[in-house]
Amino acid sequence: MASVMLRILLLLVTLPLSTKAQTNGNLTLGSLLTADDRNSSWLSPSGEFAIGFRKMGQGAHLLAIWFEKVEDKTIVWSANGNNLAPEGSKIQLTANGRLVLADPNGGELWSPSPTVAGIAYASMLDTGNFVLVGQNYVNLWETFSQPTDTMLPTQQLDQGTKVNARYSEMNYSTGRFHFKLGDDGNLAFYATRDPWVASDTYWVSNTKDSGFRLIFNQSGQVYLTTRNGTLLKLITSDTVPTSEFYQRTILEYDGVFRQYVYPKLANSSSGRAMGWSMVSSPVPPNICKSISQTMGSGACGFNNYCVLGDDQRPRCLCPPGYTLLDSTNEMSGCRQDFVPQSCDGSRPETNQFALHEMLHTNWPMYDYERTAAQTEDRCREVCLADCFCAVVIFSGRTCWKKKLPLSNGRMDPSEIGKALIKVRINNSTSKSMGNGNKNSTLIIIGSVLLSSSVFVNLLLLLITYLIYRSFRSRDSKLSRPVQINQATGMQTFTYQELQEATNQFKEELGKGAFGTVYKGVLRSEYTNFVAVKLIATRTGESEKEFEREVIAIGQTNHKNLVQLLGYCNEGQHRLLVYELMSNGTLADFLFGASRPSWYRRIEIACDVARGLSYLHDDCTRHIIHCDIKPQNILLDGSLTAKISDFGLAKLLMANQTRTTTGVKGTRGYLAPEWFRNMPISTKVDVYSFGILLVELICCRKNYKPESEIEAQILLVDWAYDCYHNGSILKLVESDDEASSDIKRVGRFVMTALWCIQEDPSLRPTMKKITQMLEGAVEVPVPPVSSSFISSV
Ligand SMILES: *[C@@H]1O[C@H](CO)[C@@H](O)[C@H](O)[C@H]1NC(C)=O
Ligand SMILES: *[C@@H]1O[C@H](CO)[C@@H](O)[C@H](O)[C@H]1NC(C)=O
Ligand SMILES: *[C@@H]1O[C@H](CO)[C@@H](O)[C@H](O)[C@H]1NC(C)=O
Ligand SMILES: *[C@@H]1O[C@H](CO)[C@@H](O)[C@H](O)[C@H]1NC(C)=O
Ligand SMILES: *[C@@H]1O[C@H](CO)[C@@H](O)[C@H](O)[C@H]1NC(C)=O
Ligand SMILES: *[C@@H]1O[C@H](CO)[C@@H](O)[C@H](O)[C@H]1NC(C)=O
Ligand SMILES: *[C@@H]1O[C@H](CO)[C@@H](O)[C@H](O)[C@H]1NC(C)=O
Ligand SMILES: *[C@@H]1O[C@H](CO)[C@@H](O)[C@H](O)[C@H]1NC(C)=O
Repeated sequence: MASVMLRILLLLVTLPLSTKAQTNGNLTLGSLLTADDRNSSWLSPSGEFAIGFRKMGQGAHLLAIWFEKVEDKTIVWSANGNNLAPEGSKIQLTANGRLVLADPNGGELWSPSPTVAGIAYASMLDTGNFVLVGQNYVNLWETFSQPTDTMLPTQQLDQGTKVNARYSEMNYSTGRFHFKLGDDGNLAFYATRDPWVASDTYWVSNTKDSGFRLIFNQSGQVYLTTRNGTLLKLITSDTVPTSEFYQRTILEYDGVFRQYVYPKLANSSSGRAMGWSMVSSPVPPNICKSISQTMGSGACGFNNYCVLGDDQRPRCLCPPGYTLLDSTNEMSGCRQDFVPQSCDGSRPETNQFALHEMLHTNWPMYDYERTAAQTEDRCREVCLADCFCAVVIFSGRTCWKKKLPLSNGRMDPSEIGKALIKVRINNSTSKSMGNGNKNSTLIIIGSVLLSSSVFVNLLLLLITYLIYRSFRSRDSKLSRPVQINQATGMQTFTYQELQEATNQFKEELGKGAFGTVYKGVLRSEYTNFVAVKLIATRTGESEKEFEREVIAIGQTNHKNLVQLLGYCNEGQHRLLVYELMSNGTLADFLFGASRPSWYRRIEIACDVARGLSYLHDDCTRHIIHCDIKPQNILLDGSLTAKISDFGLAKLLMANQTRTTTGVKGTRGYLAPEWFRNMPISTKVDVYSFGILLVELICCRKNYKPESEIEAQILLVDWAYDCYHNGSILKLVESDDEASSDIKRVGRFVMTALWCIQEDPSLRPTMKKITQMLEGAVEVPVPPVSSSFISSV
C-alpha cells in the first residue's frame, strides 16, 4: 500500500516535467518523459531542437531529436529505431545519474552506449546536440558522437565512427547502407552489414593514412581534415549561411549522402522555397552505377534495376514480367510473375517464352556463361534454349547469360549492352500463381545464402540432425528391420521413420549455411548416432539423377570423409543419413575457448589434405567440394578430422556447363575464380584449403575485423608479410609448441602460400600438398606475387 502511495506521489512530482513548457534549459536528475499521445519533449533554449518521443504507429514510439521549428519536425537522431517503445514507456534521467529508456514494466529498452553513469544533468543544446554532463561540467556522452544517419553544423566525427542509413524513409530501423571514417583514414561507404564483404565499398574518399576527422562546420561545409586540422578534402562544397538556413546532411535509406537546407524565415532573401532543398552534389553522384557488389543485390534489391531519375534520385524498378516483393518498398526486390521454364529435358518449353528488350540495361558481375554470338538472334536462341537463363545481355558480339537472382541491375545511357529478359508468353495455364509470393521470397533468401546464381526452381533445404548421447536411453524410434538397397549397399529409410527418429524436428541445435540442425535418435544394427540431411526440391532433377548422385557419394569411402550410411527418396522428401561426429565442427574446436595443441592441428591439417586428395583423385568420380571451411570439417570421437558435405555441390548445382558457378561457399574461403567467370576446378578447393591451413597454424580466423593492428585483420595478408619479412615466429608467438617447431611452421606457411596463389594453375594438387605437409617433398619458395591479397 505504502509503495502504491509512493508511486502516485512520485508520479505527481514528476508529471509536470513531461510537458513541454518547463524545459528550455538543463534537465535535472529525476526528469522524465512518457511515450503517449502528447508528443512530449524537452526543448533546447532557442526552441529549435527537441528531444522526446515520436509516434511511429499504434503503440510504437521512437526516442528522437528533431528540428522543432521545421514544419515536418525532421528527425536528426534516434535511439531505438530497431526496438520501438510501447505506449507508456519512459525516458528518465534517474536519481542515480543514468539515462534509461524503459518500457512500462521497467524493462530497459535503450540506454547510452558505451554505458554512462554519474550524470549530473543533461542538456538539449541549440546545435541539436544532446549532452549528458557529469560532475565538474565534463561531457560524459553526446548524441553528436553517436550519430544515426544525420550530421548537423558543428558536428565532428572521429575515426571509427559509423553512420547508418535507416531502413526506409519512414522506418528508422538500421538499413543496409553505412559509411565509416576508418582507422586507416579513409571515409568509405558500404552497401552491406556483412563484414565479409567489407571490401565492397561504393565510394571512398581516398585519404588513406591522412584522414582524421569529418567536420560539418558552422558555415555549412562538410570536409575531412588531417590530424593537425588542415583541410584535406571537401565532401560537400556549396554553402548557404547558417544564420538564415537550417542545415543537415543525411545518409539516406537509398545509400546516398545528401545535404539539405531549410529557410529559417518564410520570406528569406534567397528565394528558396519553403521545405528542405538539396545543396551541393550528392555522394556518390550516381549510386545506380556506383555499386557493383560481388555479393549482395547492388543499389536496389535482387532482380531490381536502378535508374537515376531527373531529380537525381535512384528509382528501383522491376523488369517486365516481375513485380515487387513488397509493394510498399521499391528496394525490396522483385519476383518472377510467371511459372519458370521447365528444365525437364523431355518437355522443352522453348516456344513458351519470349525475350523482352531493355536498352542500356545491365546486371553486371554475375554471368554464369559467356558465349561468343555473332548476332542478337543467336544470343536469343541460346537463352531460350537454356532453362537457367533468366536474362541475357547482348553487346557487340558477346552474350552474357545470367541466372536468378539478378544483382547490380542498372539502366543508364552509359551502358552499351542490351538486356533481353525472358518471360513466359502466356502464363494463364499456370497452376498455382497464388502461392508464388512466399516461395519466391524463400528462393531469394536461399539463393543469397548459397550464391547469387542458384537455379530458382531448385529450393534447397539441408537439415542436419545431430543426435547426442543423452538420447541413447530413449526407446527406439525405428522398429522396422533395416532395409539395404542391394544395388547401392546403403540403407534406405522412409520419411516417416526419419521424422519420428528426429522427434518431428523438435530440438534445434543450430543453423547451418543450408538449413537447420536438429537433435534426434535412430537405432539400427550399426549405430545409434547419425546425422540426417533433408533435401527438398520442388522441380528439377529427377529421382534417377538424385539416386545416381547419392550412390556416387555413398561409394566414396575414406577415413577422412564423413560416411554416408543411407538415404530416403520418397516423393518430395529426400534425406541423407550420415554417421555422427561426436566432437562437432573444426570451427568450434579451433576458435573455441582453449587452443588445441599444435600437434593435434598438424594431424587435422594432414587429415583434411588426405580427404581432399582422395575426393579429387582417388575416388571413382572426381568430386570438387566447393565449400571447404572449418564449419564443414567434423571431428569424430578420437578427434580425427572428416570432411562433410562433399558431393552436395554437384548434387545441388545445375550441372550444365563447366563454368556454372551454382553453389558458392563462404566468402573468404573462396578462390578468385568464383568471381571472375573462370572455369571451376579442383583448384578452388586447394585455395580454400590454403586459407584453412593458415587458420590452423595461427589458431585464429582468417578475418578478424577487431584486430588492433590493421595488417593483422586478414590473416593471410599477415602470414604473407611475415613470411616475406622472415618473421614467421610472430605468427605463433604465444604458442610454445609451435614456436619450438618453427621449421615445420615455415613449411606449412609456404605450403599455404602456394595454395592461395591467384592463378589456379600455380596451385599444387592436393596430393602434392599432402606430401609437402608430411615433409615427403621439399616445398619450393612460393612466388612473390601478392596480387591475390587484394582479391580476398
Ligand atoms: C546549464 O548548466 C550549465 C552549467 O551549470 C550552465 O552553464 C548553462 O548556462 C545552463 N543552461 C541553461 C539553459 O540554464
Ligand atoms: C503528436 O504528433 C502527431 C503526429 O506528429 C500529431 O498528429 C498529433 O496531433 C500530435 N499530438 C499533440 C498532442 O500535439
Ligand atoms: C522496419 O523494417 C524492418 C525490417 O524490414 C521491420 O522488421 C520492421 O518491422 C519495420 N518497422 C516498422 C515500424 O515498420
Ligand atoms: C568552414 O569552412 C569555410 C570554407 O572552407 C571556411 O571559410 C570557414 O573558415 C570554416 N569554418 C571553420 C569554423 O573552420
Ligand atoms: C599538417 O600536416 C600536413 C601533413 O599531414 C602538413 O603538410 C602541414 O604542414 C601540417 N600543418 C600544420 C599547421 O602543422
Ligand atoms: C521577414 O519577416 C520578418 C517577420 O516575419 C521581418 O521581421 C523581416 O524584416 C522580413 N524580412 C524580409 C527580408 O522581408
Ligand atoms: C501471369 O499471371 C498472373 C496471374 O495469373 C498475372 O498477375 C501476371 O501479370 C501474369 N504475368 C504476365 C507476364 O503476363
Ligand atoms: C493462353 O492460354 C489459354 C489456356 O491455354 C488460352 O485459352 C489462351 O487463348 C492463351 N492466350 C494466348 C494469348 O495465347
